[in-house]
Amino acid sequence: MKIILPTDIATELEAHLPEDIVVVRVDSEGNLDGDATDAEVYFSWFFLKLTTLHRVLESAPQLRWHHAPNAGVNHIITPKYIERNLILTNGAGVHAIPIAEFVIAYMLSHAKQLPRLHQQQTQHRWQKGLSIQELLDKTLLIIGAGGIGQEIASRAKAFGMRIFGSRRHPQPLSNFDKVVGADEWKALLGEADYVVIGTPLTWDTKGMIDAEVLRLMRPNAYLINIARGAIVDEFALIQALQNGEIAGAALDTVFAEPLPLESPLWSLPNVFITPHCSGNSPRVKERSLALFLDNFARYRQGKPLRNIVDQRAGY
Ligand SMILES: NC(=O)c1ccc[n+]([C@@H]2O[C@H](COP(=O)([O-])OP(=O)(O)OC[C@H]3O[C@@H](n4cnc5c(N)ncnc54)[C@H](OP(=O)(O)O)[C@@H]3O)[C@@H](O)[C@H]2O)c1
Repeated sequence: MKIILPTDIATELEAHLPEDIVVVRVDSEGNLDGDATDAEVYFSWFFLKLTTLHRVLESAPQLRWHHAPNAGVNHIITPKYIERNLILTNGAGVHAIPIAEFVIAYMLSHAKQLPRLHQQQTQHRWQKGLSIQELLDKTLLIIGAGGIGQEIASRAKAFGMRIFGSRRHPQPLSNFDKVVGADEWKALLGEADYVVIGTPLTWDTKGMIDAEVLRLMRPNAYLINIARGAIVDEFALIQALQNGEIAGAALDTVFAEPLPLESPLWSLPNVFITPHCSGNSPRVKERSLALFLDNFARYRQGKPLRNIVDQRAGY
């Protein structure tokens, strides 16, 4: 069997593959080091360019399965891609722990006023009297209680938070006090102190956090987006932040990345911007390779694959 591997990880992976596997390497521009016309499997790597993907797809007409390392595959599922009728699996899960830790950090940073305390330190000011909160008994709403959402919930539960979640197919989940469907979470906004966006970017979720949603949030509520920037109507968010409709936001993802220099988000005092790094961890690579190797063994044995993407649903 022939498979296509990115040059970044080919050497590391080849050591774990059965001897009868023939590997064709592809670089970040889509240059292949061999004939891929009979390749069956393609494992792409992070920061995949669409031009690279298309070059691989054109070079490998027999391809059946594509594994992408990202959880969010909205950038891959173009109409042209769907037409190829490939099995697509994603890396959902590999970033869940580092992102969940980041979400806890954003919440603690907000509750404990860490940015203001740090600002005081840089100004050599010993000033008491800031209003400092606890996470205990605060309500957290996780819109999109998937892999990342569930890792957030297990950590937030340890802080004694009340946790609500939403899913497309709602069913009870451990650590959640309530799980509702995709159309029901708006009714919970008025109770939430923290709102985390954990859905994929799909046709249903694009612009989902709009002016109406922001108005339904409490003035003391804090919005955290670790999913995709386009899920939020950024213009409406800036207005809500400027007008005090919500208390603040932590944004790891924004509509245009890198965030343009002229964006008002940079200088709003109630915004914490991180450059799409909440999923970073030295363990992501190890988890990504392990997931692919497990799926590859399943593929060879004809067993069901993990993390199959429903390309019509978009995740
Ligand atoms: N910041 C980063 O570096 C980073 C890293 C990794 C991932 N991400 C983003 O985070 C997203 C989530 O990742 P994940 O691993 O948690 O994915 P996941 O396990 O697939 O979870 C997605 C969750 O969203 C729910 N959902 C889908 N559409 C919805 C809707 N319209 N309304 C409410 N809930 C909806 C799904 O419901 P069901 O359970 O019913 O299907 C599922 O529970 C990814 O798609 C990606 O865009 C960001």
